[in-house]
Order: sequence, then structure tokens, then C-alpha cells
Amino acid sequence: MQNYPIFVDLKNQPCLVVGGGEVAARKIRLQLSAGAKMTVISPELSKTVRNEMLDKIKHLPREFQDSDIKGYRLITAATDDPDVNRRVSELAQSLNIPVNVVDQPELCSFITPSIVDRGVVTIAISTGGGAPVMARDLRGKVEALIPSNYSHMAQAMKDNREKAKTVLPDEDQRRRFWDKVLEGEIAELYLTGRLEQGAQALAAAFESTEYTKEDGIGEVWLVGAGPGDPDLLTFRALRLMQQCDVVLHDALVSDEILNLCRRDADRIYVGKRRANHAVPQEGINQLLVKLAKQGKRVVRLKGGDPFIFGRGGEEIEELFEEKIPFQVVPGITSASGCATYAGIPLTHRDHAQSVTFVAGHLKDGYADLDWPHLANPSQTLVIYMGLIGLPVICEKLIEHGLSEDMPIAIVEKGTRPDQRVLIGTLATMPELIKTEKVQAPTLIIVGSVVSLQGKLSWM
Ligand SMILES: C[S@@+](CC[C@H](N)C(=O)[O-])C[C@H]1O[C@@H](n2cnc3c(N)ncnc32)[C@H](O)[C@@H]1O
Repeated sequence: MQNYPIFVDLKNQPCLVVGGGEVAARKIRLQLSAGAKMTVISPELSKTVRNEMLDKIKHLPREFQDSDIKGYRLITAATDDPDVNRRVSELAQSLNIPVNVVDQPELCSFITPSIVDRGVVTIAISTGGGAPVMARDLRGKVEALIPSNYSHMAQAMKDNREKAKTVLPDEDQRRRFWDKVLEGEIAELYLTGRLEQGAQALAAAFESTEYTKEDGIGEVWLVGAGPGDPDLLTFRALRLMQQCDVVLHDALVSDEILNLCRRDADRIYVGKRRANHAVPQEGINQLLVKLAKQGKRVVRLKGGDPFIFGRGGEEIEELFEEKIPFQVVPGITSASGCATYAGIPLTHRDHAQSVTFVAGHLKDGYADLDWPHLANPSQTLVIYMGLIGLPVICEKLIEHGLSEDMPIAIVEKGTRPDQRVLIGTLATMPELIKTEKVQAPTLIIVGSVVSLQGKLSWM
């Protein structure tokens, strides 16, 4: 993170702007709207400041002097004289007063973000002062996403905060109450501007067990996080990730994706990398049940799709036995994500009429698979968890009839920024993975579709 975002309460706080032009006018206007007591030092004032703000500011109609610097909560330099701007910055920083010099990030101790203003809701966007045009572009997108009536909903929540604490002393219960309000018809009333009805419905919700009752039992959401690129999450996955109280995640889920979960949700790592289970499967199943019985909304976040080599079935079986409500959210499985990002179509009319997914991990050094079925030149074979067993896999496929020259691809860390794709043949790949020092996670694709990769690779 380039800068640490904070929101400063400027109500009745003395703030100084040095400069009186149009740029200064924008800074003065914003600080006035946050309730600051503004002093403006400038021999002249722009028309905007004179017409719109003169009666709300203290104006000192002269040049800035060193002795002006003391006694302010925040200082902004917005003159067109670089020496004055620099001097203001030096003096303010020597007294530890936060200072912003417009368009000169090297002289600033704080920068001002692009703002989406919805009353008590303020959304600030910063690119660390490095790309203000992008910040403006993002602001436009956020403006479009968040209707202006959000301010009414937020104000109502603020006004009822103390009441909620009294009626619902438990924090988790309170959070659930507000979630229900935000997801349902009460929010709809506020967001469509029917404020009076919204207020009545909110008052009724405090009296209604539908909103206030302690459920006792929580819920488990088994969510597929896809192969790595956060853009491949589904909307539903993201929505549940942002509502959960606790998230259980494994090794294949990247930090980038994890950071999209509700910020104050507890995180429990139950990761598995090959035989190294941080928590054994039975322990994970029991933990899910235990947390749900404590009334928590639990996201079990899994790489790829929970029902494809993800042991999702085992986890929900246990939930079913224990009568815990659950949902399963499909994710993009690594076969699909890796093949697409590598430029390898898994089926193609001229190459493969079917595709088979298998798990290639070895048991006692042996891959117990249906080799005659897998060694079929007109299908694509996708092998999960096959890196260690790759030499055995290549050998067995050749032994059962595939050509030594059959193309094979290894996709390492598929869909992530450091994705690598290695192309070889069944004969050459065992050596290639050694020389290229291939690292997990990897997906293996065998079949003549791999020969299209050179042409179709689009990343
Ligand atoms: C236990 S399986 C989980 C599969 C997951 N449920 C899915 O649908 O993709 C783990 C295997 O998935 C594959 N895998 C998962 N993410 C991958 C990625 N980003 N790149 C390559 N392979 C990946 C690897 O073969 C890894 O050993």
C-alpha cells in the first residue's frame, strides 16, 4: 500500500489555504463542506472564491509570511509560486502539521484522494498521487455504481446505531440485523427515495423477531475461488465472501483473493500441499460443523471448483448429517482456467472430441489409472496433481499406445501473473520439468490440441 488512508474530522478545526486562485477554490470548498474554519492567505482571490465563499472564510489579503504557519490542523499550498509552496511545506513539516502542495507530491505529507460523496458515506480513491486521471476514471465508475440515495440509508443506520446497541447487545447479532436490513426491502425503500416508509420499516424491524432473533445455527458456504486470477471469481462467490464471519482457506487460494473477503472475518488456514495437511480432512469437516453450530456464517474457500478434486462432496456430506444449512458455489476449475490462459482449447473438431480429467498423484510410487482408456489419441487428457508422477504417467501412456511424439503441456501457476507454459512431447517432458525446475501447482494437458498453443496463445 503506497499511502495509509484515514478520514480526518475537520469540524470547527482551523485550516489554512495559501493561494486564492481556481485550484485553491476547489480545496477551500471541500474543506468548508467538511466543516473546517478556513483561513485563506492571498493578495487576490479568484471570482469563484469571491462570489461563493467570501462570507465563509477569513481572508488575509497579502503574501504568506513564515509566522502564518502556526495553529492549523491542516495546511494546503496552492499558489503558482514554487518557492512559496516549498516554504509552506518546509515550515508545516517542521511543526508536524499535515501539508498538501497541489500537484507536487514530493512536497506533501498527505495527498487528497478522488472522492465519491454520499453524505455520511465518503469513498476515497487514491493512486498514490501517481495517476490522477485513473483515480478520476475509477471515481466515475464508483459514482455510477452507488446511487445517491445511499446517503439516506447510511444516515438512517448512523441515527439508529445506539438503538441497535441497546436492542441487540451482541455484536454478531447486530451485524446480522444490519445485513438483513441492507439485503432486503428496507434498503430498497431507502434506495428508491421512500424515506418515510423506510424509517417506519426500520423501526418495525427492531421489534420483529424475523430481524432480531438469534438463529443459533449458522451456515456454511463452500465457495470455488477459481485457479488464481481474482477476476475469475463469480459474483456469488464475491458476495458470500463479503458477508462471512469466518473463512477457512487452503494453500491454492491466493492472498489477493483472500483480501476480497470481509475485512474483519476471521481467517483460518487449513491448507494442503500434497501430503502436508495443516488440518487433516476430518478436522476440517469437524471445524466447519463446530463453527456453524456457533452461529457463524462460514466460507470454505477452495481453489478451482469445490466438486472437482476438491473434496467438496465429503465436506457437505458431514454438514448434511449434522443438519447444517449449506450452499455450494462453483468455481472455474484449473483445467478450464489454465487451458484457456495458455491458449489450448480442450476440445477441437479436428483434434479431440472428448476431454478427461484425472488425478495423477502416485500411491506408493504407482499411478493406479485406467491406462487403456486414457491412452486415446482423439481425446484430451487433463491431469491434476500429476507433477511428481509425470515420468510414470508419460511412460504408461506410451506403453499403452500413445506416440512418443504426442504433445504435452505443463501449465505452472495457471492464470496468475507468473504463469508459465512448457510444451514438449511424452518423450521429452520428464527431462524438461527437471531442467526448467517446474514448481506446483501445475496442470498437465496431453493431446494433439496442445499443438495449437503456439498459434492460439493470447496472453
Ligand atoms: C487438490 S486439486 C484441486 C483442484 C481444484 N478443485 C480445481 O477445480 O481446480 C489441486 C490441483 O489442481 C491443480 N491446480 C490448481 N490451481 C492451479 C493453477 N493455478 N495452476 C495449475 N494447476 C492448478 C494442480 O494440479 C493442483 O495439484
